[in-house]
Amino acid sequence: MKDLFGQALLDYHNGNYTEDIITSTSISGEDILPLPYLFRDFNEMPNLEQKALKLAKGNVLDVGCGSGSHSLYLQKNGLDVKGIDISKGAIDVARKRGVLNVKVLNLLEETETFDTILLMMNGTGIFQELVQVSKYLKHLKGLLKPNGQVLIDSSDIKYMYEDDDGGFWIDTNANYYGELDYFLSYKGEKETPMKWLYLDFKTLKLACETVGLKCDPILEGEHYDYLACLRQK
Ligand SMILES: C[S@@+](CC[C@H](N)C(=O)[O-])C[C@H]1O[C@@H](n2cnc3c(N)ncnc32)[C@H](O)[C@@H]1O
Repeated sequence: MKDLFGQALLDYHNGNYTEDIITSTSISGEDILPLPYLFRDFNEMPNLEQKALKLAKGNVLDVGCGSGSHSLYLQKNGLDVKGIDISKGAIDVARKRGVLNVKVLNLLEETETFDTILLMMNGTGIFQELVQVSKYLKHLKGLLKPNGQVLIDSSDIKYMYEDDDGGFWIDTNANYYGELDYFLSYKGEKETPMKWLYLDFKTLKLACETVGLKCDPILEGEHYDYLACLRQK
């Protein structure tokens, strides 16, 4: 990984904002990811994220914290927060913005336990592909304190396969339709392609059941997105 995402966050934080990140996926063309969005404050966050922040309690792990927007809000409200991310640039920025407890760490290498674990901005993306979901869910379950909760958002992206006549062109012999290849470029450089998973609520709930987690819907967003809360059974 070249960490272009982290580089873009660093540029923005250091006042060198000239370009946005360009993304595309295996089923969609180029899209702009505006850097200011990655530095949003509470009022600029979608309802689902605001709701998750309001539900957070106790000591919190912000998984894939990026520039630390959610961690900062919680820290300012008196919660004990740890932000982790595999992007060194992102962790540098989160630290510079004032998040006190941050670490370059893969979720699968985290060992502490938490009352709340947050995975925001398509939190299931980190699972990468359907076959890996139970591994990540089992790991998350092991990081929960008694009565702890995982707050995670995602979307049912079936709508992306809809054609003009309202029919769907999903290839039923292919992998799960929410498994995408994700491409990112910044300032003309291409990041190593990665896998990014969108999970519909029903599939997430089923996967949770197989590993002994309860999965409740908390809120639906405006565009097939949702916030879910996972707890130990
Ligand atoms: C879509 S960004 C979201 C950033 C931030 N949560 C936000 O809402 O602005 C996903 C983040 O997850 C991080 N990430 C991806 N896989 C990870 C993993 N296995 N462990 C920790 N962080 C991961 C990426 O580096 C990236 O910063």
